[in-house]
Order: sequence, then structure tokens, then C-alpha cells
Amino acid sequence: MKRSPRPTLKRNGTRLAALADKYDLYQRSVQSPENEVAFFDRVFRTYHKRPPLLLREDFCGTAAVCCEWAKSRRDRRAVGIDLDPKPLAWGEKHNLSQLSADERNRVELRKADARDVLAPRADVIAAQNFSFYFFKTREELARYFRAAYRNLGRQGVLVLDVLGGFECMKEDTEEVRGYRSFKYVWEQARFDPITHACRFHIHFRFPDGSEMKRAFTYDWRLWSMPEIRELLTAAGFRAADVYWEGADPRTGKGNDVYRRREHAESDPAWIAYLVAVK
Ligand SMILES: C[S@@+](CC[C@H](N)C(=O)[O-])C[C@H]1O[C@@H](n2cnc3c(N)ncnc32)[C@H](O)[C@@H]1O
Repeated sequence: MKRSPRPTLKRNGTRLAALADKYDLYQRSVQSPENEVAFFDRVFRTYHKRPPLLLREDFCGTAAVCCEWAKSRRDRRAVGIDLDPKPLAWGEKHNLSQLSADERNRVELRKADARDVLAPRADVIAAQNFSFYFFKTREELARYFRAAYRNLGRQGVLVLDVLGGFECMKEDTEEVRGYRSFKYVWEQARFDPITHACRFHIHFRFPDGSEMKRAFTYDWRLWSMPEIRELLTAAGFRAADVYWEGADPRTGKGNDVYRRREHAESDPAWIAYLVAVK
């Protein structure tokens, strides 16, 4: 039987989990805005032979990627859209506040459903960290893809990330990654093989034994790559290209380098980019 770690109190009696900020921990463990911006830049140039300037970040949460975009070039603008006012307010306070006045003027945040917002037509629309998995029916997802198509300029790309592999369908499993002052835990709580409805939680654990349980919970549908590609094509995109992660020849582990691929080897748990091209 597992024993719960013995609680160690900080001097004033407050445990580390109670002092931590879930959005800060999320950014430090989940997001990598510099890599995202470099990837968006690379793929847009591949298809359209010029630098992308306007980013629309759907499901932007704390808008970390919008901020990185504005920092990356003086002529870049970003619009971030999220339904939830809490991460938007956190992003204003902790991310946008770190920008120079000029950079700040080039980032706009909107609280809205990503499917309903007509903003200036973007070069890149990014929907990162599987956010479109919130849409549970074909009609809902198709509606989002049609809206994204309309919200891109004449030349544009929609960048999604997709996860899969049979391990994603296992229930009651945890993946734990260690950071300097906390552990990030990805729990797969539920997978329904009939509907593909799934439930994931993110928890954060601390060296004093305390835990921020269910800091984030996601109720998604686990869409398959072919379903998503077919819906993108039906929405009007001329291509829906998969960028698959390469492997380090020494360790066999993912090397963070994503290249366009038509086929891949079976993999128990994978994450890939999907780039829909207008
Ligand atoms: C998994 S988080 C992703 C945050 C960030 N994009 C990232 O890469 O880490 C999903 C976000 O999508 C937002 N969201 C869910 N449905 C939405 C919708 N229909 N329109 C806009 N935002 C939505 C949630 O409020 C949440 O902040």
C-alpha cells in the first residue's frame, strides 16, 4: 500500500502547494513559447516564402506565445483569444507586463469563443496543447476549422498539435516529470473506447510532500490523426501536413526536431504538429 508522504510544514505552517501559482507552474512545465514561434516561422516560410507577421493564438490561456511572437520581430502583431477570463488576467499581469511598451502595443487579448471572433486575418493561427480536443462532435470541430480557414489571410497556416498512441488510452496512469522545485504529473483518468471521451488531470507535487491536485482538468475527445486531417480538408485547407518528431540515434528518444512525414512507425505515445495550409 502506498503511504502518503509525511507533511513537512514550512516555518509559518504553510505548505508549498498552497503558496504555488498554477499558471506559473504550467508555463514552466508545459509551454515552450520560443520553440513554438520558431516552428510557426519555419513552416509558414516553407509554404509561403515570406516571414509571417500576424499571429492569432486561439485558446491562448496566459498568452505566453503571443508575447514571444511580439518580442521576435518589431513588425509582428498577435491576437490572443480565450473563453476564460482567469488565465487572460494572469497573462496580462505576469506576461504582458514584462513586454516593452512597443511590444505591448502589438498584443491584443480577447475574451471570447475562438469560433466567434472575427479578427484581422492572420498569417498563422495557433491552437496549441490540444485545445481543439474540447470539441467533441464532428460538427463542432468542423465549425472551428471552417472559422479558422476564414480567419486566415489569403496565405496562411493553422498549426495544431495532436497526441496519440495506445498509451493515451490507458486509464489510471501517471507520467511524472521532475523540475527543480516541483514535479509535474500528467494523469490519464478516463478513456471511453466507444466515444473516445477522455479525462486528463495535471497535478503538481512539491518537495515537502504537498500536492496541488487537479490544477487543470481536461475533458476532451481523443481525435485520431486521419479524422482531423479529413475535417481540415473538408473545411477548405489545401494540405494538412504532419510534422513528426525525429529520434536521437543514441537513446531512441524524441529529439524535438519535427519534419514533414507521410508515414511513421507505430509509437505507444506520440505528439506531432499538424499544419493546415491555406
Ligand atoms: C489546454 S489550455 C491551452 C493554453 C495554451 N494555449 C497552451 O498552449 O498551453 C486550453 C485553453 O482553451 C480555452 N478554451 C476552451 N474552449 C475554448 C473556446 N471555445 N474558445 C476559446 N478558448 C477556449 C480554455 O479556457 C483554456 O485556457
